[in-house]
Amino acid sequence: MRFDVLTLFPEMFPGYVSQSILAKAIQRKIISIHTHDFRQWTTDKHHSVDDRPFGGGPGMVIKPEPVVECVESVRPLADQAGRIVLLTPQGRKLTQPVVEELATEERLILICGRYEGIDQRVVDLLEPDEISIGDYILNGGEVAAMVLIDAVLRLIPGVLGDAESHVDDSFSSGNRLLESAQYTRPREYRGLTVPDVLLSGNHQEVERWRAEQSLAKTKQRRADLLDDTN
Ligand SMILES: C[S@@+](CC[C@H](N)C(=O)[O-])C[C@H]1O[C@@H](n2cnc3c(N)ncnc32)[C@H](O)[C@@H]1O
Repeated sequence: MRFDVLTLFPEMFPGYVSQSILAKAIQRKIISIHTHDFRQWTTDKHHSVDDRPFGGGPGMVIKPEPVVECVESVRPLADQAGRIVLLTPQGRKLTQPVVEELATEERLILICGRYEGIDQRVVDLLEPDEISIGDYILNGGEVAAMVLIDAVLRLIPGVLGDAESHVDDSFSSGNRLLESAQYTRPREYRGLTVPDVLLSGNHQEVERWRAEQSLAKTKQRRADLLDDTN
């Protein structure tokens, strides 16, 4: 899968892409991540990407030309047209089913906003999938793009080994429950012991205990996940 990230801050990405699972996936050519600084698509001598909002108001708005023209230049860099995603707090929320949908694409072109946001004509012309990572305001779309890449990455075949499998993850489709509590060594820590059933070696009992714990935790913390209408 190929990710093209349009950003004014490409220098935010090298540290992120060098982290373990992501770095391995890149090395094994399962995914590739390409950043594009859309400031390079400005034509004025000051390379300005933003301007004051028409109608007044605080802050600056990203101009349409550099974003649209950057997308038009980047799109032919690969055979697949891909899906264009605009990271915006006004988009549909990034949930695990949305992540699963995005993971079926061969290519995602992610547009990261900054300042007060992006000129509406970018949306009108490119018709991106507008995605929010939650009901709060970030300074820019870069961290949101990293969140999206990180979540999608886990679902791409070959990225996770068996040891890191995602099938039991909370929110996975077919498993709309929170994962049960996890324990590892030591068996006792500061007076707190691992539940006996997990040490019993009885796989059926372990599975039953996990299912019960999972349901109880979901009822207590996220009853909304049990509602079919969600
Ligand atoms: C300061 S925000 C602009 C917020 C905008 N004024 C509004 O009220 O919708 C700058 C950029 O950060 C990104 N951003 C902020 N919050 C986000 C969120 N919750 N999800 C995804 N992107 C977000 C978007 O790319 C946005 O264009």
